[in-house]
Amino acid sequence: MRTPIIAGNWKMNMTLAEAVALVRELKPLVADAKCQVVVCPPYICLHAVAEEIKGTNIALGAQNIHWADKGAFTGEISAPMLKAIGVQYAIIGHSERRQYFGETDERVRDRAANALAHGIIPIICVGESLEQRENGVTDAVVTVQTVAALKDFSPADVEKVVIAYEPIWAIGTGKTATNAEANETIGVVRNAIAGVYGKELANKVRIQYGGSMNAKNASALMAMPEIDGGLIGGASLKAEDFSKVVNF
Ligand code: PGA
Repeated sequence: MRTPIIAGNWKMNMTLAEAVALVRELKPLVADAKCQVVVCPPYICLHAVAEEIKGTNIALGAQNIHWADKGAFTGEISAPMLKAIGVQYAIIGHSERRQYFGETDERVRDRAANALAHGIIPIICVGESLEQRENGVTDAVVTVQTVAALKDFSPADVEKVVIAYEPIWAIGTGKTATNAEANETIGVVRNAIAGVYGKELANKVRIQYGGSMNAKNASALMAMPEIDGGLIGGASLKAEDFSKVVNF
């Protein structure tokens, strides 16, 4: 059985004080969660949030990670730095990074590999644009992204990764994929993993849905057999809303 994982992707939101206040409010609301709960604040809030969630069931995630351990990469943050302050997860290859910051499949793979090398679990994002869905190439797109992101990974590492299937047209738009669409494409992602690593291993990998998932639609999405959790943007910015998703 795969333990569900619900992660809040705060994106570029929250000042330090707001971040601490949000997790302070969130702690008691998710204390009995049956899933793994993760919050992914902006880098600058990670340390304070780490202190605030010590001893709770909330895990800490970053929103990106560099592919090198250290060096001349102005403005970047590395896995050892994140590990040192208690970061356990990192979102990698979010569509906003692919769209606005030139993220490539190859770099996604390198970032995820470096996260794993330092004991940080990557939450690797894949997903098609509206145009790609309309052109009927969704399955091909997510298959290519998934296989590229895991290229040359050991089976032991693949077992640890979390994949987030996020149709780009559903992110921040209020438009969710139907439960069936989300389930089906997540099945395609799982098949892509199975094609390289076999079915048994693919069945162990947790695959989230992301894209306008909220308190209202979470339980129906989570009831689908292929969906092992959610990557939550907008609905993770208020403690009460996020707790309702977590307690689906
Ligand atoms: P959304 O964002 O929940 O606001 O659609 C999800 C995401 O981008 O991870």
